[in-house]
Amino acid sequence: MVLAILKRSLHSALAVLLIFSYSTTAQQQTQNAPSAKTIIAHRGASAYAPENTLPAFRLAFEMGVDFIEYDLQVTKDKQLVVLHDQTLERTTNVEELFPARGRIAAGDKSEKKRWYVYDFTLAEIKKLDAGSWVGVNFKGTSVPTFQETLDIARGRAGHFIELKVPDEYNARGVDMERLVLAQLERNNRAKPDSKTRSPIVIQSFSARSMEKIATELKSRLPLHLLTSADDKDGWLTRDGLAKAKRFCAGISPHRSSVSNNPEIVTWAHELGLRVTPYTFTTIAAAAPQETEPLRAEMSRFLYTLKVDGVITDNPDIAGKAKAK
Ligand code: G3P
Ligand code: CA
Repeated sequence: MVLAILKRSLHSALAVLLIFSYSTTAQQQTQNAPSAKTIIAHRGASAYAPENTLPAFRLAFEMGVDFIEYDLQVTKDKQLVVLHDQTLERTTNVEELFPARGRIAAGDKSEKKRWYVYDFTLAEIKKLDAGSWVGVNFKGTSVPTFQETLDIARGRAGHFIELKVPDEYNARGVDMERLVLAQLERNNRAKPDSKTRSPIVIQSFSARSMEKIATELKSRLPLHLLTSADDKDGWLTRDGLAKAKRFCAGISPHRSSVSNNPEIVTWAHELGLRVTPYTFTTIAAAAPQETEPLRAEMSRFLYTLKVDGVITDNPDIAGKAKAK
């Protein structure tokens, strides 16, 4: 009897502790999030320069962005590099330099050879050309490291850092979340800083990874949960958003989710979550007639649908949308 009462009290105490730690995390997430409407350059100014490279980031700074968005992958020697794909062949000359290193992964139905980032050391990846696939004028551009990207953006723009496939890295025994936080710690950037011109936001499609960063690793950096167009896990419902609020400062939904159901923005704002949809894009140089429709679309999202920022390949056009 006494044991049963003790057990019940212990459970209640644990529940209170859990609720307290969640609400503290939620409160901190809101406090640490950026406040004004923001322009976030997707993989840099990637409509005009090779995605996720230093030239694309430099161009984004020149266009006056608030943040650069980029993707992280982990090399064989556990270094963080900036690359969207898990494999190197789409955006580099890896097939030419390392023809024998491609492989068909178990279960890959396409049966195509691929060159996985985690099969290569940083020194090997640094030999690759990540610019020529876009144009000869970008020949010699390398895959940047996370550190190079932190350095180049210092004082110029903030970071929307996307952890790509953290669950897969975890399954391979690589603690990607700890690697990222440790690198930020070495740069004295692991804590929110309201005064810096280069604030940090971390995002991922993996809710598990975001929750781990907030609750297990106890980071107070603002986190955004990315959701795909089909939102198959139901994050963009009232209940889903309330759940996300326990560990996130914001959501980055596919833009179609917001245009199909604009109420998402109201629900998110009621909870104190910021909303930064992706990806607004046009190959403006090739199709100048698309510039005005894209500007109008971003303007509609910012001022009619009232989102907090746009993630775009065309930060120059976003600048015009914000100015009007
Ligand atoms: O920031 C949102 C966007 O980057 C997510 O999609 O595939 O371009 O990384 P993806
Ligand atoms: Ca991304």
